[in-house]
Amino acid sequence: MVEPAIKYRLIKKDKRTGARLGEIITPHGTFPTPMFMPVGTLASVKSMAPEELDELGANIILSNTYHLWLRPGEDIVQEAGGLHKFMNWDKGILTDSGGFQVFSLAKMRDISEEGVKFKSHLNGANLFLSPEKAIHVENALGADIMMSFDECPPFSESYDYISKSVDRTSRWAERGLKAHLNPKEQALFGIVQGGGHRNLRERSARDLVSMDFPGYSIGGLSVGESKAEMNRVLDFTTPLLPEDKPRYLMGVGSADALIDGVLRGIDMFDCVLPTRIARNGTTMTSMGRVVVKNAKYERDFRPLDENCDCYTCKNYTRAYLRHLIKADETFGIRLTSYHNLYFLTHLMADVRQAIMDDNLLEFREAFFEQYGFYDK
Ligand code: GUN
Ligand code: ZN
Repeated sequence: MVEPAIKYRLIKKDKRTGARLGEIITPHGTFPTPMFMPVGTLASVKSMAPEELDELGANIILSNTYHLWLRPGEDIVQEAGGLHKFMNWDKGILTDSGGFQVFSLAKMRDISEEGVKFKSHLNGANLFLSPEKAIHVENALGADIMMSFDECPPFSESYDYISKSVDRTSRWAERGLKAHLNPKEQALFGIVQGGGHRNLRERSARDLVSMDFPGYSIGGLSVGESKAEMNRVLDFTTPLLPEDKPRYLMGVGSADALIDGVLRGIDMFDCVLPTRIARNGTTMTSMGRVVVKNAKYERDFRPLDENCDCYTCKNYTRAYLRHLIKADETFGIRLTSYHNLYFLTHLMADVRQAIMDDNLLEFREAFFEQYGFYDK
């Protein structure tokens, strides 16, 4: 039995909820959980320098196998000395497997037991990804944590389809484990699927847990279902996962969903949401979303968020941010992206403190009171 590349240390379990305080020990540092991971799809968190990510509180960032495989090619990243060196980031990196991206971006997918045939979203070229191929690319990229190649069917797919898909995802996970070359340097996570069906989530979790991955992801959520539905699935899914391994809820990044996920035992989250909405002038603040592009901020000389200590809020006004975004100035995007990422990494720090202080439920009430309930 090889020592896995990462370990999870449970520090404290909340008495009243499923929340847990812990840390994840990786080859590039030990980081507190629950945590939010910014997304850098193409080996860059859009408009942010690594020094800025470090400063705003990011510890692990996510990158995408599918995108880097197409561009610049994993061989080039490997020749550069791996993703950490290539992008000048020496804290944690996690790569998604490409499974989800193939299903969300590519056209004309043809799924078989062997893998998925599809057309490139860049130039229409015929491509093929299999569990072995995805792991091969992830090994070349060299992230601390890698994802298994999975299928993420739409939430509304038939029970019959999702049932078959879950079994195939388990077989793909097993093939990925066999193809994984360096489990001592890179940790491979299994991804639990099963849509909204309790017995399928149970089967998926049981199959994957029996393969003894160093961590588990929950996939197939935040794909159009309601927040209540997502919470219902988490209520029965996280308890199926081992307590001594990290649990990662994929593709979730709205403030309310992060807090409700933590309450259900999630340790890690990622999402393009904070950086994507920042680029069109939408920000997350302690009072809810502020669409800084709106006309009502034209002469608003207050900071974006009076309760925020970030570089953007300490130095600039809503009127200035509105002007920059309206004028398509790159600096505006940098300032709103910086704030949104700071907001979520610091929200997670506050959540950790609340678990420490035994007042997570009170923290949630107070937060939602100001922020508003469902962050769409
Ligand atoms: N990102 C968001 N959801 C998913 C999922 O279900 N699978 C993978 N691989 N990535 C995701
Ligand atoms: Zn701020």
